[in-house]
Amino acid sequence: MTKQTIPAAPPCTLFLFGANGDLVKRLLMPALYNLSRDGLLDRNLRIVGVDHNPATAQDFAERLHAFMRERDTAKSLDEKLWARLAKCLDYQTGDFLDPATYAALGKRIDATRHGNAIFYLATSPRFFPEVAQRLGEAGLLDESAGGFRRVVVEKPFGTDLASAEQLNACLLKVMSERQIYRIDHYLGKETVQNILVSRFSNGLFESFWNNHYIDHVQITAAETVGVETRGAFYDNTGALRDMVPNHLFQLLAMVAMEPPAAFGADAVRGEKAKVIGAIRPWSAKMALKNSVRGQYVAGKQGRKRLPGYREEDKVAADSKTETYVALKVMIDNWRWAGVPFYLRTGKRMSVRDTEIAICFKPAPYAQFRESELERPKPNYLKIQIQPNEGMWFDLQAKRPGPELVMENVELGFAYKDFFKMTPATGYETLIYDCLTGDQTLFQRADNIENGWRAVQPFLDAWAQEGEVHEYPAGEDGPEAGDELLTRDKREWHRLG
Ligand code: BG6
Repeated sequence: MTKQTIPAAPPCTLFLFGANGDLVKRLLMPALYNLSRDGLLDRNLRIVGVDHNPATAQDFAERLHAFMRERDTAKSLDEKLWARLAKCLDYQTGDFLDPATYAALGKRIDATRHGNAIFYLATSPRFFPEVAQRLGEAGLLDESAGGFRRVVVEKPFGTDLASAEQLNACLLKVMSERQIYRIDHYLGKETVQNILVSRFSNGLFESFWNNHYIDHVQITAAETVGVETRGAFYDNTGALRDMVPNHLFQLLAMVAMEPPAAFGADAVRGEKAKVIGAIRPWSAKMALKNSVRGQYVAGKQGRKRLPGYREEDKVAADSKTETYVALKVMIDNWRWAGVPFYLRTGKRMSVRDTEIAICFKPAPYAQFRESELERPKPNYLKIQIQPNEGMWFDLQAKRPGPELVMENVELGFAYKDFFKMTPATGYETLIYDCLTGDQTLFQRADNIENGWRAVQPFLDAWAQEGEVHEYPAGEDGPEAGDELLTRDKREWHRLG
């Protein structure tokens, strides 16, 4: 979708709770800047930072400006454009638990913006229920006067099934599902949205997109970074909670869902909920058998020493938190019966690579029976989400020459060869969609709960037993992660 051809979003007061946090300066402000550059924000948009530190609107704007200048390595910050956006900025000092804060926010919602307001919870998750409750008590979620009232909830949404259900119940007590925008920033990525477009607008794919032709699917999110400055959060979270029920399951849903009857929010989210809900709940024994946990120890990147996880700031010296996880899951429906989905994600791996590799069943071998050929390699369709965005088919071709020798070749589409890719944070589409009331790219309560339901058996089994395997930083996870596939006579698609 080219946003340039679509109208600016309606006017609104956008409250950013947690205004002094990282998310606002690193992602939300740059995304708002990009939206403003593309003419997609209303002139009357008001952006109100809300946080407990006393500050003025000017302090808030100056701090963000300094950050925008610093991050703009190409020195391409358009000062005029920034000045226009800075005029929309305001600030409200207030304690998130104090009703007086909400009374003050209420006064800032006005008729110039048709009474429209969005409350973006970019805070620590412990505040989500409290803030929602107080917004409700202050009457700020009441839409009866005509303006819309929406609440954006950041990740992590709960830490297990019970806490996610509790948080949903808490939100739904004070607002309707239609008002809730649960963010998963993976859905803001062009390449993730493109999975649906590729699948459902090219007749070719549907004919082989099932268990007759597909042997298995691999979904990988490999990162080279460690836990950076988030040791305290990560040590209580781990790779499974941080990446699987949200980001990796979103990728799984995009690949595995049935065609929705329409591209509307309910149809799309309904199909996603169904497919995530069809993930087989493993018994404790099977959960242990079908999962591998790893933690990075000191390693190397070239000649540079990379610290081990337990040496990271704010990580316990005897931590057992996993920084790598590999899982095998099965989807119990007609399309995918018998097709394993292997998922893996890890910090401090050799390359940054988020990809889906769809492995097809091997060709019948008969034609080559008389030749010296090795068994042909399976065909893969690789959908690379980042960093080298595109899609590639691995095929077998005859190497030119008198001998019959097969070689792997690639048939590919790289985004950069076809489209002008303007730098984006991934939050642009999500913010625009929230302003315009399109929930397609946001998680519904059942999507979230089904995701936690599918990972809960792993969490429960790991709480009782199971090993955390070490792997050197800068390498691709523990050997046990490879064995998860080799025992099924398969192997991970090469990274990169
Ligand atoms: C976040 C996780 O949700 O996603 C991080 O908390 C992770 O640990 C990040 O690094 C990955 O996002 P991306 O867009 O870089 O793949």
